[in-house]
Amino acid sequence: MSEGGQLIRGLEGVVAAETRLCDLDGANGRLAYVGFDIDDLARHATFEEVAYLLWHGDLPGKAQLDCFTTELIAARAIPAELVQAFRLMPRATDPMRVLQAAVAILGTHDPDTTDNSHEANRRKAARLLSQMATAICAHHRVRSGQEPVAPAADLPHAANFLYMLTGKRPTATAAKAFDASLTLYAEHEINASTFTTRVITSTQSDMHSAVAGGVGALKGPLHGGAGEAVMRTLMEIGEVASVERFTTEAVATKRRLMGFGHRVYKAGDPRAAILRGMAEDACRQSGQFKWYEMAVGLHERIKKAKGLIPNVDFYSAPLFYSLGIPVDLFTPVIAAGRIAGWTANIIEQHDDNRLIRPRADYKGPGRRTWVPLEKR
Ligand code: ACO
Repeated sequence: MSEGGQLIRGLEGVVAAETRLCDLDGANGRLAYVGFDIDDLARHATFEEVAYLLWHGDLPGKAQLDCFTTELIAARAIPAELVQAFRLMPRATDPMRVLQAAVAILGTHDPDTTDNSHEANRRKAARLLSQMATAICAHHRVRSGQEPVAPAADLPHAANFLYMLTGKRPTATAAKAFDASLTLYAEHEINASTFTTRVITSTQSDMHSAVAGGVGALKGPLHGGAGEAVMRTLMEIGEVASVERFTTEAVATKRRLMGFGHRVYKAGDPRAAILRGMAEDACRQSGQFKWYEMAVGLHERIKKAKGLIPNVDFYSAPLFYSLGIPVDLFTPVIAAGRIAGWTANIIEQHDDNRLIRPRADYKGPGRRTWVPLEKR
């Protein structure tokens, strides 16, 4: 870079967009979507209402919600070609790679694929939100040697997801916990995957391309992949009695502990506090309380030893596990929630776009004389 400019590693603290979607107060550990506190939304709103809020800027009235819900239900089916693609993929392919491919394939079937107008983007967002849920569940069924379960038109989005995954209608408690989880994951300002969707959008590429990129970014263990890693850590610990020894070793070896720490929240992640309560109830009801006890034990010891606090992915791990979600589907489930926020950000970026193109600070050799191959 020859024109000056300051390198900010990891773009920490850099403001890269104006948004009307998410108000993240890291210093005070507070979060709101379009003015509504996350605590109120998780407790009282449905995920459908939250998606509407993010896409329209306000909560729906009764008639608007009925109309919106009908649109989402009608969009749940996925093309037979996509299910066929799942059957052709190697069984061991990780579900996030499959989801990334699925989003791209859905783009090849979408009637508005290359239309970046506000209205077309809104239609595509609704289709993607519904179809991604169906695709995640259908792929899981296919890789497990089972037939996909057709969506149930009488079930709301969260309950229908659990139904398509397991073939059984969930209890009201399980459906509410899952619905609230999707809400808690729905939006989170310019996190790595949302930034990815904005960068892709800024080139005037289309929504499916941007979302496929977002899925790739979410997959990493420093981002959405942390939830899966938390559960694997709890499984590695195995028993409540082993938490103490694990913590001592982890601290001594300076191990990076998944589900702890956050780039923005330094006083606490408000989503973790809500998920903790839901994890406690779900673990108790499923007869797997030890996962909750281990998580609390690890939380307290790591906080004391290193001053690190849990992020959103910490308590969602025992919660998802006790809801019967396979561990390698934790990140796709997060994507099924975050699709609401990704698409809202994509719409916002398209509606007021400027190409995102930062600079790099060149540290390589100075100008050199060309040496022909035979003389090297
Ligand atoms: N375990 C151990 N040490 C940690 C952790 C952790 N989880 N997080 C931060 N630290 C330590 C670092 O070692 C570093 O210590 P040092 O200054 O002595 O070297 C210090 O805290 C600062 O850490 P950074 O990695 O520089 O902080 P950054 O803001 O880049 O980290 C991140 C944020 C990536 C989330 C980090 O906390 C982390 O790796 N956490 C684990 C992965 C995780 O849970 N990710 C999910 C985030 S939420 C989400 O994306 C949905």
